[in-house]
Amino acid sequence: MPLAERLKATTISWHSTMLIDEIVSRGRKGAAHAADDGAPTGEIRKLSSLIDISQALSATLNLNASLPSVLDILERHHSVVRASVTLVDEETSDLYVKAASGPDGHRARSKGGEGIVGRVIETGKAIVVPQVSHEPQLQEKGRRSERELSYICVPVSISRKPVGALAVYLSYKRDRHYDRSLKFFRVVGSMIAQAVKVSRLAEAEKRRLVEENTHLRDELRDRYAFRHLIGNSAPIKAVYEQVAQVARTNTTALIRGESGTGKEMVAHAIHYNSPRARKPFIKVSCAALPESLIESELFGYEKGAFTGATTQKKGRFELADGGTLFLDEIGDVNLATQVKLLRVLQEREIERLGGTSTVRINVRLIVATHRPLEKLIAEGTFREDLFYRLNVFTIYAPPLRERVPDIMLLADHFLEKYAVEHRKHIKRISTPAIDMLTSYHWPGNVRELENTIERAVLVCEGSVIHGHHLPPTLQTAEASDTLPRAALAETVGAFESDLIQDALKTTRGNRARAARLLHTTERILGYKIQKYRIDCTRFR
Ligand SMILES: Nc1ncnc2c1ncn2[C@@H]1O[C@H](COP(=O)(O)OP(=O)(O)OP(=O)(O)O)[C@@H](O)[C@H]1O
Ligand SMILES: [Mg+2]
Repeated sequence: MPLAERLKATTISWHSTMLIDEIVSRGRKGAAHAADDGAPTGEIRKLSSLIDISQALSATLNLNASLPSVLDILERHHSVVRASVTLVDEETSDLYVKAASGPDGHRARSKGGEGIVGRVIETGKAIVVPQVSHEPQLQEKGRRSERELSYICVPVSISRKPVGALAVYLSYKRDRHYDRSLKFFRVVGSMIAQAVKVSRLAEAEKRRLVEENTHLRDELRDRYAFRHLIGNSAPIKAVYEQVAQVARTNTTALIRGESGTGKEMVAHAIHYNSPRARKPFIKVSCAALPESLIESELFGYEKGAFTGATTQKKGRFELADGGTLFLDEIGDVNLATQVKLLRVLQEREIERLGGTSTVRINVRLIVATHRPLEKLIAEGTFREDLFYRLNVFTIYAPPLRERVPDIMLLADHFLEKYAVEHRKHIKRISTPAIDMLTSYHWPGNVRELENTIERAVLVCEGSVIHGHHLPPTLQTAEASDTLPRAALAETVGAFESDLIQDALKTTRGNRARAARLLHTTERILGYKIQKYRIDCTRFR
């Protein structure tokens, strides 16, 4: 394509076609002149600048840092007097100056040329104005430029769609090769476009992660909302009240209770119902960490603190900043670490291992243990002063045997949970199985109940959990005594009794209908009811 056509394609004629012709005639003449811009040294300078620009753009994803460096390179090596990069806001489609340079860099943001930049972005075509003094749109109100300038504005496009523009003012030279200059700034514009694209992708990814994180946190908060804590017995209601009281404060909470009573759930409930709910909840299982690791886990370390410490690492206290740190099994922490914990609780600051400076921390501490701390103090394995520091607000998670009314609520809750998880259509728990569940003493508490129900769901083939789906430990003392001796008769008997009670439950104690349901006669059913000493009145 002839040069004149090419320039017409890229230069819009809002001013005058004469202007374009002027560029063209100059361009042709200029070629013969081997002027500054067209000289081989000029080409080399352009190439080396492009390398510098690409390095500046790839050094960081932050356009606020890279774009000024790019404009600076243009100013230093390409007689650029001032320059700006304008971008289109993705959401509002408004134009905004992302970077500007020049002696009056700040003013360049608000001054002249916006109309032209807008045109370039709208049309995707570059605009060249050899003499700014001839273009009214580039005139600053109340100010005449002392020297003549040229103006070039090229689009910054991603996948051919203009997302911004690079505008430069050059010192005017009669013999400038505008087509070559234009080419050069086009390349710079496309490099900026790449950087904008990468930076926007990174921003979008960051936004996605932040959204996902917020969503997950909301989900966690919801999971530990009070309504998900099962139980309405008096002892567990007292626990809820205590959780609500302590959640509002920053007080250290000590949760005590046998294994499996739900101490960790209580800790979660405190955090997710507290003003710190949107900040991290960090758990440290003190019993699971070897003594040698616990301090570096809790307090972090500086680079070179010990062999293998190749970088600085933040401890869990620092990671929990603004949120809650949950130290589980505090009774298992060694004495040396106890001293350090006591100091943290008193001073509210930590020192990383191998470090000299202190780091202030804003963390609510929740600790839990199933161990008898008073006994440990008497034995000398737990510090009394630390105990007093921790024992500010103590919550006792009650053992399951002291909250019998909750057993069925929890059993139903776990039945629903595991039936869904294992894709079984189990509707309910049979009456004899309920009796077994409620009369058992549950040494392993809620965790044992949960495991029992999951196992029952797994072995159950029908729609009802029966007594024989429960583990032998739950059979009554007499039954489990006789089980090894007469296993078959007992088990068949237990199964038969379950089925009959189940049928009676369905028919609300009506023997005739129950017999029909079981495909037997009323006489046989009556005999079995007597044999298994089933009380029909309880089903009415
Ligand atoms: N009130 C409750 N409602 C629903 N599920 C519960 C409740 N209490 C406990 N659980 C469940 O019981 C199991 C054991 O609870 P958790 O881990 O909190 O006990 P723990 O006291 O920390 O036990 P350990 O001392 O052994 O660490 C968990 O799966 C938990 O989801
Ligand atoms: Mg626990």
